[in-house]
Amino acid sequence: MTWLITGGAGYIGAHVARAMSGAGERVVVLDDLSTGVAGRLPAEIPLVRGSLLDRDAVDGVLAEHEVTGVVHLAAKKQVGESVEQPLRYYWENLHGLTVLLDAVVAAGVGRFLFSSSAAVYGVPDVELITEETPAVPINPYGETKLAGEWLVRATGKAHGIATGCLRYFNVAGAARPELADTGVFNIIPMFFDRISRGEAPRVFGDDYPTPDGTGVRDYIHVADLADAHLAAARRLAERPGAGDLTLNIGRGVGVSVRELADLVAEVTGHRTPPVIEARRPGDAAKAVASVELIARELGWTATRDVRDMVASAWEGWQAQHRPAPVG
Ligand SMILES: NC(=O)c1ccc[n+]([C@@H]2O[C@H](COP(=O)([O-])OP(=O)(O)OC[C@H]3O[C@@H](n4cnc5c(N)ncnc54)[C@H](O)[C@@H]3O)[C@@H](O)[C@H]2O)c1
Repeated sequence: MTWLITGGAGYIGAHVARAMSGAGERVVVLDDLSTGVAGRLPAEIPLVRGSLLDRDAVDGVLAEHEVTGVVHLAAKKQVGESVEQPLRYYWENLHGLTVLLDAVVAAGVGRFLFSSSAAVYGVPDVELITEETPAVPINPYGETKLAGEWLVRATGKAHGIATGCLRYFNVAGAARPELADTGVFNIIPMFFDRISRGEAPRVFGDDYPTPDGTGVRDYIHVADLADAHLAAARRLAERPGAGDLTLNIGRGVGVSVRELADLVAEVTGHRTPPVIEARRPGDAAKAVASVELIARELGWTATRDVRDMVASAWEGWQAQHRPAPVG
């Protein structure tokens, strides 16, 4: 089999591409490098620079590399930006997906894994979010992920393609410093950004109905997430033909923002206490995955803890922000 990994030069995609290639799968990456970094990929993984929105580029890579399965990660992913620019998000994430699926059908590709998100659930008031929890996204980003799942499943059903929709919870950490997330959109890089400038990390809301009053989330190490993709891809490869596997990917363990801030202080040695600010609209009190289904279906469970995530992300942050040598 040859797997096309769209968005494979991105933060998560590069981990997925390396994990799959390292496990002996043949992979090729299609990425427009809009947020991706070519240097995240080793020389043995071919990188085709092009956009999903360019049908000729997609047809070209599918044919030239005799692709038999797709792992689709390329997307725009910033919630706030999606609220300001919904048309751009719908165009990039859903029109892009339509172009890709149409090309996949035309080329007779039989497996398709889609990078979805816990954002499809919105803010459910439940202890653990299962795959049966109603999906009620509250921003355009989450809507594009939910509608993306619909497109993927309907296309799979109509054309006999084995599909999987992987709903990631809060992704963090890095397998190697050079693969770390370069954006400052998630909580851990946001904490690093503040403390590196000598400012107090910001915590939004300490009056939630949670044990310490701060929001509780489920963090998953990106290297564990990559291993889950490998397991899911192999499952689809064993099981050609129609059928869908929609799975949460998390640890099933809640960590509060305050606990995370304490861990960041411990790992980095920057001990300025956080400042408490008002709640942000749209933030749930708690979002923790039920991970029973993925364990049962794929025999996969996460192995890395939050300390690994913070420590590896900090190494990556320091590597990215090291001053250039003089002379
Ligand atoms: N990071 C998270 O916490 C998180 C959580 C849930 C889901 N996701 C999803 O995971 C996927 C990867 O996210 P990431 O964090 O690695 O983001 P990222 O921005 O690092 O990676 C996205 C990659 O896609 C490429 N890309 C974007 N638009 C493209 C297009 N039209 N054609 C070709 N390439 C294109 C970018 O250059 C980049 O390399 C996304 O689908 C995102 O929605 C991420």
